[in-house]
Amino acid sequence: MAGHGTPIPMTAQKSGPLSGTADVPGDKSVSHRSLILGALTVGETRISGLLEGQDVLDTGKAMAAFGADVERLGDGEWRVNGLGVGGFAEPEDVIDCGNAGTGVRLIMGAMATCPITATFTGDASLRSRPMGRITDPLELFGAQAVGRARGMLPLTMVGARDPIPVRYTSPHPSAQIKSAVLLAGLNAPGETVLIEREKTRDHSERMLRGFGAQVETVETDEGFVISLQGQPELKPQTIAVPRDPSSAAFPVCAALIVEGSEVLLPNIGLNPTRAGLFTTLIEMGADITFENEREEGGEPVADLRVRACTLRGIEVPADRAPSMIDEYPILSAVAAFASGKTVMRGVKELRVKECDRIDAMARGLEAMGIRIEEGEDFLIVHGQERSVAGGITAKTHLDHRIAMSFLCMGLATDRPVSVDDGGAIATSFPVFETLMSGLGAQIERQTEGS
Ligand code: S3P
Repeated sequence: MAGHGTPIPMTAQKSGPLSGTADVPGDKSVSHRSLILGALTVGETRISGLLEGQDVLDTGKAMAAFGADVERLGDGEWRVNGLGVGGFAEPEDVIDCGNAGTGVRLIMGAMATCPITATFTGDASLRSRPMGRITDPLELFGAQAVGRARGMLPLTMVGARDPIPVRYTSPHPSAQIKSAVLLAGLNAPGETVLIEREKTRDHSERMLRGFGAQVETVETDEGFVISLQGQPELKPQTIAVPRDPSSAAFPVCAALIVEGSEVLLPNIGLNPTRAGLFTTLIEMGADITFENEREEGGEPVADLRVRACTLRGIEVPADRAPSMIDEYPILSAVAAFASGKTVMRGVKELRVKECDRIDAMARGLEAMGIRIEEGEDFLIVHGQERSVAGGITAKTHLDHRIAMSFLCMGLATDRPVSVDDGGAIATSFPVFETLMSGLGAQIERQTEGS
């Protein structure tokens, strides 16, 4: 699959104990939302700890293309002077969201109730992902979308001139669908309601409230009913982005499987709608402690201390899936080192991420001789305890989390593990290689002829 750059093959080798402090970057979900809500607000929003990964930088560029004033002041420090709800200007050119499903889907929501037209595209991965799940509810507001077959990008969205509020039950457990509907609802008069059967990450609701919108969540027999009062006057905010638990997952899991490791990860966001992996790892016997638990900027955070230990396979409850949906690739990598089998059910959303993550992990693990059972919505990994062969080159399909999962495995396998292309890692975790080598991990780019 062709990305935006030349492939970067990488290899990870068995490493000595990992140790030290891992300062992982800002949360990707919160970073996208900070820029988008800043752009929908008149006045200056200040953001610190913004993730400067390619996905988020592409959202920043998009916000500038819609007329917001977006400026980088320093390392992770940004300011956005926005246009107000409904104030987006028509972009002069195609909006390229690169690899970012969250970016494109949330931005489509934000512009769908503005009287402008925009065309969106992305890399080969993003162009193969379903967009009908977003354009269907946005059309209920009065927007019109024309994309390729099955609604895929490139896609042109004509925003609604006279938007009407919507009541929509999400057919998938997806925070991107929920957020697109809520962002569109901002510029519709009256109340927009989104119902989700399973609770997904709630950063949009928290941040919308922080910016002054009226958002209520009520749990009913139908599910979680989230209502937003349209056309609020948003007030600029100062946002401290917590560190990304989904990025922390990689050094955490690497420390668990590399014998003798002990790693400290300060300031990790532990929003309960995101922290499912840590619960799962602890059930598997992981030695993880949470220190200095506190709240920062409306999100719970703590410092995580992780020590290597033996793990046992478990059955991960299906209803935990939304709170750890991005962490199944690294969990399935860790499961190979556990005793017994790890059963992951209710995970069919993994099939429509940056790639089909069930398939990508299953193929790579099988190539190492690990027994896998797989179905449309489940993955079972039969653990081999400490001795995992390695010695493969995994295909990453432009998927950052697949690349990082296999590289973390390679730190503990008997033979090295390579990936065909680690270029996508820069979308979410641009400092992955330096952070991991600072802990003692042996991860290298392959130079020609090596
Ligand atoms: C995200 C939601 C999830 C997740 C993605 C980020 C978000 O996607 O996989 O990495 O920031 O809203 P879905 O909403 O499609 O589950």
